[in-house]
Amino acid sequence: MVPPESACILALETSCDETAAAVIQGGRLISHHLATQEIHARYGGVVPEWASRAHLQHIVPVVDAALADAGKSPGQVDAIAFTQGPGLIGSLMVGASFAKAFALPRQLPLIGVHHMQAHVLSHFIEAPHPGFPFLCLTVSGGHTQIVRVHDYLDMEVLGETQDDAVGEAFDKIAKMMGLPYPGGPWLDRYAENGDPGRYVFPQAKMEGLQFSFSGVKTAFRLFLEAGIKNNPRFLEEERDHICASIQANLVSALMEKLVLASRQTGIRDVAIAGGVSANRGLRRAMEKAAAEWGWRVFVPSWEYCTDNAAMIAIAAHYLYQKGVFLGADVQPMARMPWPENRR
Ligand code: KG4
Ligand code: ZN
Repeated sequence: MVPPESACILALETSCDETAAAVIQGGRLISHHLATQEIHARYGGVVPEWASRAHLQHIVPVVDAALADAGKSPGQVDAIAFTQGPGLIGSLMVGASFAKAFALPRQLPLIGVHHMQAHVLSHFIEAPHPGFPFLCLTVSGGHTQIVRVHDYLDMEVLGETQDDAVGEAFDKIAKMMGLPYPGGPWLDRYAENGDPGRYVFPQAKMEGLQFSFSGVKTAFRLFLEAGIKNNPRFLEEERDHICASIQANLVSALMEKLVLASRQTGIRDVAIAGGVSANRGLRRAMEKAAAEWGWRVFVPSWEYCTDNAAMIAIAAHYLYQKGVFLGADVQPMARMPWPENRR
């Protein structure tokens, strides 16, 4: 086996609607490419069957581009990694099948990566890195979790959502406002020009470090219906204020629990990761908390917040170091349990 300091790993991400490939060598990212699937915008959400088909179309050109950019030929790859789960099963299968077909004839180690663990590890793609232990709020279209990170592959979920993920709440609320899919970035954009204190929405009272976002979604629907009933132009006239106010509600629900987690654990290196960590309101709230609570705050570059293969590559690098490889009979998992901890 090639030693981890020089091993060249090709990594694939196909869990949802981005087809991505990256090349990492000795823990240093050398290239990454991504093809976003435009087709879903037409339907206001990801259509799983379209996603799998689009992955099939994109995977070869995306891998070719990542290898070409890295100046590597397929023969120079020492291991191949793919997102094993969680995600859409058809989409995951495309990445898993490609990885197996690539690995088998070359007898390469095969590495399966947990998508949410990779979001956490996106903090090690580039400096500055948080110190262990740190807290990571992972906020995406499918997850909302507070993770205590003891080591690269040793993590513990302290709390999570009991229903919708916060990204899902952003997207569903944006959809009610007639904004395109995915709605999170649109809400963020309009919120920049609005007054976050104009409207007040309820917040779920959850035990400990648990979250809930389904109630606010319903409250928002009723608020919008009542507003439009009073004034048919309500949405057009108030759009920016509505976006700013609902974003403030979602962000404060996240921050309240993150502050609680930091106070309970005494950990003050605090990170955010996943698609919603691109949100400007959340980033500002993190800066404010840093000043108020003496945190060191870590936020990934924009390109590593939403789904990408660079984070799969960095996770694969640590798994390779530990010799965690899979057999060719491995199956992707739509619901994948948190991986076994390794130190
Ligand atoms: O991590 P990600 O790319 O995919 C999943 O693993 O789900 O996260 C996608 C989610 C979507 O819900 C999208 O609306 C949200 O991240 N998102 C944002 C922003 N950019 C992406 N939400 C709020 N503000 C943003 N700027
Ligand atoms: Zn993700």
